[in-house]
Amino acid sequence: MSSIAELLAEARAASLEDAPLLLAHVLDRDRSWLFAWPEYRLSEPQLNRYLGLLERRRQGEPLAYLTGHREFWSLELEVNPAVLIPRPETELLVELALALDLPTRSRVLELGTGSGAIAIALASERPDWHITATDASTAALDVARRNARRHGLSRIRFTRGDWYHALQSGEGIHLIVSNPPYVRQDDPHLREDGLPWEPEQALAAGSDGLADLRAIIGQAPEHLLPGGWLLVEHGLDQGDAVRTLFGNAGFTQVSTRQDLGGRDRVTLGCYPPSP
Ligand SMILES: C[S@@+](CC[C@H](N)C(=O)[O-])C[C@H]1O[C@@H](n2cnc3c(N)ncnc32)[C@H](O)[C@@H]1O
Repeated sequence: MSSIAELLAEARAASLEDAPLLLAHVLDRDRSWLFAWPEYRLSEPQLNRYLGLLERRRQGEPLAYLTGHREFWSLELEVNPAVLIPRPETELLVELALALDLPTRSRVLELGTGSGAIAIALASERPDWHITATDASTAALDVARRNARRHGLSRIRFTRGDWYHALQSGEGIHLIVSNPPYVRQDDPHLREDGLPWEPEQALAAGSDGLADLRAIIGQAPEHLLPGGWLLVEHGLDQGDAVRTLFGNAGFTQVSTRQDLGGRDRVTLGCYPPSP
């Protein structure tokens, strides 16, 4: 049977960058262990599992689906093909939400929670917020609930439904956040760059990519308290269109913020108190 040193040398020669992570995953160790024990020989089942995962990675399957986890906001989250793999850019939405001046016991709604990344990050920082997180997908909500439990945040309320239909009552909300699908249905990226592995329901949003943003922004005033905030993530070329949607819905203090790459990423606005 092959040793760790031999397998890593083969992977290096074939430029398979993620091989150490996959090997560490199969052995249930961290990467440093591999380098401390280069002569360790894998059992036959371990070797077969490693080679199977390596082949799937070679076919383009995202690393996070192969290892079953991804870090977001320094929190380890379970992911599987029922959920979008949380992106580092989305941490901007969390930062902006935390920077708002909101009451201690704010009611907060996350629409389209997927793995639960945003709701769990917010709950980990604001123990007093009453957070509801929704999704249309039962399978995604199962993952999100497990992630919340894993981080001891079982007070987040998870509910299923089509955007605001997931809510039971007309309780006023202080803050709505969402990273909805915003890719155009005919965008070639949906068939490239690893995206074909992620659920289409998490990515595609009609012919202009704005169908879900339109619904979320347009209906937000029915649910926000006066002075409440809406924050949405969107595509880098959608800033103008999204600000227009905020304006049409009656929002003030509308602005678009850029991610670390300098690209338009999140638009926010305040629903004004009545005069
Ligand atoms: C882009 S993913 C975001 C997931 C997660 N919030 C994140 O940032 O990693 C969008 C999520 O919206 C959900 N979704 C799509 N259409 C929906 C709808 N009509 N109502 C509620 N959720 C929906 C998808 O299932 C998916 O989990």
